[in-house]
Amino acid sequence: MASNTLTITDNRTGRTYTLPIEDGTVRSLDMRQIRTGEDDFGLMMYDPAFVNTASCRSSVTFIDGERGILEYRGYPIEVLAENCTFLEVAYLLLFGKLPNKSELNAWVYEITHHTMLHETTRKFMEGFRYDAHPMAMLVSTVAALSTVYPEAKNVQDPANRLRQIKRLIAKMPTMAAMSYRHNVGFPYVYPDNDLSYTENFMNMLWRMVEPKYAANPVLARALDVLFILHADHEQNCSTNTMRSVGSSLADPYLAVASAAAALSGPLHGGANEEVLKMLNEIGSKDKVPAYIRKVKEGHIKLMGFGHRVYKNYDPRAKIIKRTAEQVFQVTGSNPQLDIALELERIALEDEYFVDRKLYPNVDFYSGIIYQAVGFKPELFTVLFAIPRSVGWLAQWEEMHRDPERKIARPRQIYTGERTRTFIPMEERAVAGAVSA
Ligand code: CMC
Repeated sequence: MASNTLTITDNRTGRTYTLPIEDGTVRSLDMRQIRTGEDDFGLMMYDPAFVNTASCRSSVTFIDGERGILEYRGYPIEVLAENCTFLEVAYLLLFGKLPNKSELNAWVYEITHHTMLHETTRKFMEGFRYDAHPMAMLVSTVAALSTVYPEAKNVQDPANRLRQIKRLIAKMPTMAAMSYRHNVGFPYVYPDNDLSYTENFMNMLWRMVEPKYAANPVLARALDVLFILHADHEQNCSTNTMRSVGSSLADPYLAVASAAAALSGPLHGGANEEVLKMLNEIGSKDKVPAYIRKVKEGHIKLMGFGHRVYKNYDPRAKIIKRTAEQVFQVTGSNPQLDIALELERIALEDEYFVDRKLYPNVDFYSGIIYQAVGFKPELFTVLFAIPRSVGWLAQWEEMHRDPERKIARPRQIYTGERTRTFIPMEERAVAGAVSA
């Protein structure tokens, strides 16, 4: 018998099955042959939160959660954060190789020249309530781009897909900045093609009456590094959404809007905003032990801590911590940083966190930097969505090229009633007499 196989004995029938093992996995569909009789559907795998299920093959991002390793297309995240620009990394994620000089210049030119929004999109944004949350505005506006580029639905054409990918990467900062300007009641600022990707984003956020915006180079670089760190993270909740929605052949604007909606939740990209709220709630270093006690009693979660995959220090959090030091040299220190450092110090020594392998994740320090740079907390998750859209699109493109692609459609274990007798309205119990 081949050694790369799994032998299973079904104790219900006494039958034995041999299943192939490939890349450390067995195919769920191979389980279907394990049946008790003709009427039996066959065994399924039950994995409600995909805790131990590989949903695709991917060559975009590698994570070793036990060792705290993250690589994009085989390059360690530390090396990319040290040496590359965000658009260079975007090229790497999308095309699988680092661009040479002329490829990078052409790529930057293309992205820069797609940053404008159609006027109808600007007008669409004007319709939001004055205090609308920027993340909700971003999700809706990305979806609305589908109305501006109806040809995007031709997702079977690789050239068409690439055109939409460039548009999305270019327009995300423009929409994000407009959502912020709308929220604070300032007029929208149009893109400036002389500036880099992140400088232009800062320009669209913060230019007031000056004719030309000059970004602080340290802060612009810090933002670029943060964008690199957030660009992809294999099959997380929002990327899984992107692939799932994309698998129905929906257009990329609608798929990115869905992915961004998934990102907005506090257990995912929304955590950075929650971390800042938490640090404000704690208020001072001396209140940290009491807060940790509440976490251990199960009343609250320590936001920015823990990860489904990392059971070690999140390598992105390490880089962010270093970046924070550079930012604070420009902006001056931030009282929240002292509270965060104290939280981390106590948590990393505490049995509760040690036993559960809970370490700071990417969101723990990013919010503190964002705040120091001048971003409002409502914008933090938007700042995550801009770079992550590159990862979503790289994974979406990979999915379209995958010969095994099919519409995503999990199974269920049905727990409800069957074939009930219909009760006419006049015979049904009065309200309150039955529990729903
Ligand atoms: N604070 C306190 N306890 C925690 C935390 C936390 N932040 N995270 C996990 N635990 C506990 C959890 O209660 C459980 O304890 P027990 O075994 O006693 O029931 C144990 O650790 C295992 O946790 P889990 O809920 O099974 O882990 P998960 O893989 O389902 O959840 C997570 C991962 C990220 C949703 C979770 O750690 C969490 O809610 N963290 C806080 C929110 C956060 O920072 N999210 C950002 C994640 S990183 C960036 C991103 O994905 O966007």
